[in-house]
Amino acid sequence: MAQSQQVRQERLTPTPRAPEDCAVVIFGASGDLTGRKLVPALYQLFLAGSTPKHFYICGAARSELSDQEFRDKMRQAVQAKGREMTRWEEFAAGLHYQPVIYDEVATYQALARRLEELDREHGVPGNRIFELAIPPGLYMTVAGRLGQAGLAREEDGRWRRLVVEKPFGRDLASSRELNQAIGQGFAEHQVFRIDHYLAKETVQNIMMFRFANAIFEPLWNRGYIEQVSILSAETLGVEHRAGYYEQAGVLRDMFQNHMMQLLALVAAEPPSLFEADRVRDERVKLFRSLRPFPTEEIYDYLVLAQYEAGQINGRPVPAYRAEPGVDPSSLTPTYASMKVFVDNWRWQGVPFFITSGKRLAEKLTRVVIHFREVPHSLFRQVLGEEIKANRLVLDIQPSEEISLYFQAKQPGAEVALRTVRLHFAYQDEAARAGLEAYEKALADAMLGDQMLFWRQDGVDLCWAFLDPVLTACETCAERADRLHRYAAGSWGPRDAAKLWPNHPYHSGQP
Ligand code: BG6
Repeated sequence: MAQSQQVRQERLTPTPRAPEDCAVVIFGASGDLTGRKLVPALYQLFLAGSTPKHFYICGAARSELSDQEFRDKMRQAVQAKGREMTRWEEFAAGLHYQPVIYDEVATYQALARRLEELDREHGVPGNRIFELAIPPGLYMTVAGRLGQAGLAREEDGRWRRLVVEKPFGRDLASSRELNQAIGQGFAEHQVFRIDHYLAKETVQNIMMFRFANAIFEPLWNRGYIEQVSILSAETLGVEHRAGYYEQAGVLRDMFQNHMMQLLALVAAEPPSLFEADRVRDERVKLFRSLRPFPTEEIYDYLVLAQYEAGQINGRPVPAYRAEPGVDPSSLTPTYASMKVFVDNWRWQGVPFFITSGKRLAEKLTRVVIHFREVPHSLFRQVLGEEIKANRLVLDIQPSEEISLYFQAKQPGAEVALRTVRLHFAYQDEAARAGLEAYEKALADAMLGDQMLFWRQDGVDLCWAFLDPVLTACETCAERADRLHRYAAGSWGPRDAAKLWPNHPYHSGQP
């Protein structure tokens, strides 16, 4: 407790910025994401006083709903999240709905008129966020039509922003095509490509940890670091998303976006200022330094696998191929472990092991920095054992912790070493008022801060890195033989251990 108070006293906080009055227009308002994430996040921001003074939300989708029907639907969704509902009516007064036909130009003209009326009603000066919570197949249509209808135009100090969810295409060519369609109406400064991993508080903390402390950065390089492992394990399976997942697989679903951002945060150079484009420039520089994947010997660097039936938390779960909507002979990988190198001065020769999978033993997102062993073990003779190297573990979710493992003397007369843990847990800081990922992303979009969003050059570079890997895997003659199996509830396939000396398969612990 004393320690937490000290942390609070020492906290340096910037003056909070207030977003300008604006409207949030959600395309796909009758869909799952709107009720599950977007409106609960906006309501939470409202409760926290973080929405603008003059503000409203306009849902837009194909269903014919009245404002009142939309409000009722959203009330249920927010209530299901267990939110405090005392100020709901006040919030709901700013919820509206406009039916749309996504590819009809006339729809956008009608929407523009409705938004002008609502602007007048709520005293909003025409600033708007358009959030695309629609199937990715509709992104080009809606973004293009918004441009054609003049809804993307910024005039007389009014801003217009487009928030896009991943996936940004399914390869480099389709991602560029999507960007071209967006670019017909929106300039890059208007586009906010969400990666909800970047908006997670402990993911943001990786940068703070590295660059606000003098003691780690001098060690943060090939001289002291042996290898880095980045893991995002899920217990969930494919759920109801087989249609999408069958086409995507783990490489498109997790690697092209979240895993690449985690890698960039761990490995990028310090920017000269904590400012959106300088931070994004450093991430892009890192993506540019990725060693092209050796596609001729791809399976020395990549393990792909799919889950079999097994048990999660004591409950039997089916194999991926037996999930509803999945092809019974599907070759879609649900797990990948990849060895990646960054060809620059800092990281030459240091392997990064990047792993993600569904239906693994635990929900766990963790970065481990494995330091080198001591250069000379003067205790070896006495102890007859190897001295374990230091490890820094950054736990991102579900628990948010930082642990440093080091060697200390075992208490007592005997000369012996043991590994001890220096530990910091975010939860211990009781006064923490963190924002959930979607709350943070929407708050930043309202403020116009693009730091935690993808820029198109970064998207392109990651696709350029991954495209040859995907082509090699998907056209490989032995594709079926190369796809390993793992039991649901395990830590993945046995073969991943060949790539990764500290793989959980060996120790039972990642
Ligand atoms: C999404 C993927 O982007 O991230 C999902 O499409 C995955 O397949 C999810 O389950 C994981 O996010 P989180 O925040 O639960 O780690």
